[in-house]
Amino acid sequence: MKNKTRNLVVAFLATVSLGISLGVQAADAVQSLRGRDVSGQELDPGKYTVEKDHAPAAREYVQQPPLIPHKIDGYSITTNFNKCMDCHSWTRYRETGATKVSLTHFKDRDGKELSNISPRRYFCNQCHVPQTDAQPLVENTFKKAEGLR
Ligand code: HEC
Ligand code: HEC
Repeated sequence: MKNKTRNLVVAFLATVSLGISLGVQAADAVQSLRGRDVSGQELDPGKYTVEKDHAPAAREYVQQPPLIPHKIDGYSITTNFNKCMDCHSWTRYRETGATKVSLTHFKDRDGKELSNISPRRYFCNQCHVPQTDAQPLVENTFKKAEGLR
């Protein structure tokens, strides 16, 4: 009985110290996807301020999903309702002043034309995003596509 209790205590202590050392390791070395040490940099998206509404931004390459030039707080997209389409659909864009969704957004994956927004283009935020004041975590040498400079 006594032995059993001792073994339990030892196992418990081992688990705790393993937990602590793993925790310390994780906190010591936060790495970017490219393997750079980015410890100490703020990674919580909630800490950043979303840009103020502005005119549509210039694109960097021809097939770029345009950035969202306005706030999207509370614009929800559910199975039954898509707030973005409230302004961006072909039936609403004239009254709202929004750009109508691209013609390409009506094609299914086999290239067949549909009469409504394609399911693969339904979740707008998969591709279209607003910008924040976050600084790049790593150096970036990307240049605008030649035809758009
Ligand atoms: C209340 C109306 C409204 C809603 C809702 C709305 N938008 Fe917009 N959106 C606009 C207007 C107006 C513009 C600016 C058009 C202009 O100034 O040329 C715009 C611009 C854009 C652009 C830039 C287009 C370009 O050519 O650069 C994108 C992308 C966009 N919105 C995506 C979205 C997405 C995604 C959602 C949903 C999360 C959304 N919008 C919800 C009104 C709206
Ligand atoms: C899978 C990625 C993807 C999704 C999802 C998507 N888009 Fe796009 N969107 C793009 C790309 C790429 C372009 C630019 C090339 C093109 O027109 O197809 C674009 C272009 C646009 C444009 C500019 C059209 C123009 O005439 O210049 C608007 C507005 C837009 N999308 C709105 C939306 C809205 C609203 C949704 C959701 C209902 C949505 N997109 C979903 C990728 C996407």
